[in-house]
Amino acid sequence: MLIQSRDNGFIHPRSSEITPRGVYEGRRDMLKWLASGAAGAAMASWAARDALAQVAAPGKLAPLPGVKSTVPGAQTMEKVSDYKDATSYNNYYEFGTDKGDPVKNAGTLKTKPWTVEVEGLVKKPGKYGIEDLIKLSAQEERIYRLRCVEGWSMVIPWVGYSLAELIKKVEPQGNAKYVEFVTLADPKTMPFVGSRVLDWPYAEGLRMDEAMHPLTLLTFGMYGEVLPNQNGAPVRIVVPWKYGFKSGKSIVKIRFVEKEPGTAWNKAAAQEYGFYSNVNPNVDHPRWSQATERRIGDGGGLFAKRTKTQMFNGYEAQVGQLYAGMDLKKFY
Ligand code: MTE
Repeated sequence: MLIQSRDNGFIHPRSSEITPRGVYEGRRDMLKWLASGAAGAAMASWAARDALAQVAAPGKLAPLPGVKSTVPGAQTMEKVSDYKDATSYNNYYEFGTDKGDPVKNAGTLKTKPWTVEVEGLVKKPGKYGIEDLIKLSAQEERIYRLRCVEGWSMVIPWVGYSLAELIKKVEPQGNAKYVEFVTLADPKTMPFVGSRVLDWPYAEGLRMDEAMHPLTLLTFGMYGEVLPNQNGAPVRIVVPWKYGFKSGKSIVKIRFVEKEPGTAWNKAAAQEYGFYSNVNPNVDHPRWSQATERRIGDGGGLFAKRTKTQMFNGYEAQVGQLYAGMDLKKFY
């Protein structure tokens, strides 16, 4: 984000960036296994590599299983990121600006009781206790790529349901054109809310058709369990075709409005972070290219192999139509 990122060549990798031990040991075991002559066809060795890399949640949080989603685009053949990486390399500025801060500091976040207020231009405004919100629709597992604006990405199995399910229940009025997401800003439990890094509370927004798109996920869990605090417990948004910062964590208000709402990063640096923030390899950030990305967990630190970033993060077939005729350089 505003702070210069190591992905853009300024800062040396931390030890946590070097290949995690589990992955390294997994590779070493696989090499032994290959050397032993037990390997079958090349296809089998690829499958084995994937099996070694798929690490489940450690089972310390409450289970939250979801049925395999049938929404187009909600499944992928890509290797799922290591649970450890997904839960220890985070952006959650309320708990610090370093990637390792949220896992260290977010233990203070109080997620019970939790209420989400639905307000603004809707026929049925109301307050939802988190337990009722979870039960509002069937939980699905969606395996989405998350591409951060800083140039890294992960593949995460989220659990939740389409935000559209909630929107349909609250019946937006005809003049509701945007949805605003307001997240918790509690200086007592969030040590960085007192800082001037951002204008708190962290707020985000979507155009109504984006919010209604079936891929937009109201998210309560990941890896078959409830969300860890550092990933936005107890409820967050995940919008897979947009840069990660559009996915606000620990939501307390969902507000339906007529005008495009202000958003945290746009307020902090409008020329760098637009309202739309669709993943787009053809529109560079003013300070770096967005053409490639580094998959967290692939190792290599500064010399990590980078892969080409895909238009709309690979979800063009599903969401491209939402932006037909729009100049995406202007509406970045
Ligand atoms: N939500 C809040 N409330 N505060 C934040 O700092 N960071 C965003 C987004 N949601 C952020 C937030 C950014 S920059 C990213 S990349 C994603 O959360 C990271 O989500 P993850 O840590 O679960 O991968």
